[in-house]
Amino acid sequence: MTPYKLLLLPGDGIGPEVMGEAGRIIAWINARGLAKIETETDLVGGCAYDSHGQAISEATMSKALAADAVMLGAVGGPKWDGVPYDQRPEAGLLRLRKDLDLFANLRPAICYPALADASSLKRDRVDGLDIMIVRELTGGVYFGEPKMITDLGNGQKRAVDTQVYQTSEIERIAIVALDLARERKRLVHSADKRNVMKTGVLWNEVVTKLHKERYGDVTLHHILADNCAMQLVRAPKQFDVIVTDNLFGDMLSDEAAMLTGSLGMLPSASLGEADAKGHRRALYEPVHGSAPDIAGKGAANPIATIASLAMCLRYSFFLGETADRIEAAISKVLDQGLRTADIAQDSCCTVGTKEMGEAIVAALDRGE
Ligand code: IPM
Ligand code: MG
Repeated sequence: MTPYKLLLLPGDGIGPEVMGEAGRIIAWINARGLAKIETETDLVGGCAYDSHGQAISEATMSKALAADAVMLGAVGGPKWDGVPYDQRPEAGLLRLRKDLDLFANLRPAICYPALADASSLKRDRVDGLDIMIVRELTGGVYFGEPKMITDLGNGQKRAVDTQVYQTSEIERIAIVALDLARERKRLVHSADKRNVMKTGVLWNEVVTKLHKERYGDVTLHHILADNCAMQLVRAPKQFDVIVTDNLFGDMLSDEAAMLTGSLGMLPSASLGEADAKGHRRALYEPVHGSAPDIAGKGAANPIATIASLAMCLRYSFFLGETADRIEAAISKVLDQGLRTADIAQDSCCTVGTKEMGEAIVAALDRGE
């Protein structure tokens, strides 16, 4: 059995707690002989800054580059509000994305039937919801230069961020979205702001051309990003795959996630280009952040991280069947009425992080 090298970067806040539960599932997979996953744990974010003055060290970057996949918990928190901008906890995550060239961020928003009532929308709007947001992750305004604040010397300052995209960057993310759509409902919405932004004009042009030349079997709709945000709360089930740029994807994915009941449920995969063997560099992380308000209390929801591990098994280790089993076990535990505080319901039993992880392992053991 080929051993897989998985680098675990729990990070800050609730990161270590939720990653601990992913570790529990990894131990179960190894013990069952379903795979051989060798893990190593390292620092990223505020904890890395505290330990060596950088949000991610060169040594950790080398390990990330050498690993078959990386799993990250969360970064950031008020403790690091005052650290220099370049060393803020988020810089560690952004460097991982950029240096591993993880341009394709997959954020599925799936509404588990048991949780439809936890959504802020009415049950009939979200029951059975299954959207895949494909967010461009290494370009756009996140990384564009110039990016600076200049002192104008007259008591005024001027801040600049640069939104920049070139054809190849748009093309490669659109290919990921259109390919994914072929395994789903063959429907893609491409969201941009071509009515005010040149990057939107180019985005639209490139996606249209690619679709016309190679994806006649997929339905493509162009949608303005603000309208997309509105439609997501009006009638979310009209969407299958949404492809969009880095900044719009950041916002639309938080919005889509909340439709499913809680940000604590949503996993993500960030993928690079496939090599000759079909292997992609990859980072898996829950969409939620470090939630400093509940950190250390054992109350965080580990489901998003466990579901991120399932994505890792599917996309990096080609263990789709084990991934299916983990997702089914999550569903089962929710059906049984177990809830963490973020998805608490009157008729259900509220449990902590550890109990939720243990319940998922128990469901796996029962082969459910
Ligand atoms: C996300 C987060 C990050 C982002 C932050 C932590 C830098 O919000 O992954 O969505 O803006 O991309
Ligand atoms: Mg975000």
